[in-house]
Amino acid sequence: MRRIVLALLAVVALAGVVAYMAPVSGQADGEAAPIYGIKIPAGYRDWRLISVAHEEGNLNDLRAQLGNDVAIKAYREGQLPFPDGTIIAALHWNYVSSEENNKVFGRVQSFIAGAPKNIQFMVKDSKKYAATGGWGFADFTDGKPADEAVHKTCFPCHEPAKARDFVFTRYAP
Ligand code: HEC
Repeated sequence: MRRIVLALLAVVALAGVVAYMAPVSGQADGEAAPIYGIKIPAGYRDWRLISVAHEEGNLNDLRAQLGNDVAIKAYREGQLPFPDGTIIAALHWNYVSSEENNKVFGRVQSFIAGAPKNIQFMVKDSKKYAATGGWGFADFTDGKPADEAVHKTCFPCHEPAKARDFVFTRYAP
């Protein structure tokens, strides 16, 4: 009996160590995106909201931009350029009509987030990513990074936002 209790205690202790170590690395498991070597940051889904967006055309999606604590503080204080350690996440979902909601409204007017498409990250490290305005870029679909060609498109397209440190999204109060 005592052995079983000891064995159970050992398992609980080990689980505690594993749980404790997980966030220490700061990055979840998984493949790193090419060029910038960024992995999906642990806990990003719990970050706070910066704003939302809807793209039409070929993209036709709904988007939410989330920021880690460094990002949110910089946004709220209007700090530019964003400090090292800033991470901005962009979550993209299919833009779908909600039949369930439309029934309640009695007409077609409700559009909601459907299946997830991709998630993108901008990570500020002014030394490591000096060649791209201090930002590293990463794009994942189903946890898998997009290829190098896709990652080459990120920075050039963000250059028009140079005056706001290459970030388009403004904070939605
Ligand atoms: C065709 C131009 C274009 C390309 C290519 C592009 N972006 Fe963006 N990105 C934008 C625009 C415009 C916004 C703001 C509007 C929006 O979110 O739809 C944006 C928003 C973002 C945001 C939210 C922060 C911000 O700047 O508003 C992140 C994060 C982001 N992009 C990451 C990436 C990554 C990673 C890549 C490459 C895999 C990439 N982007 C490629 C134009 C682009």
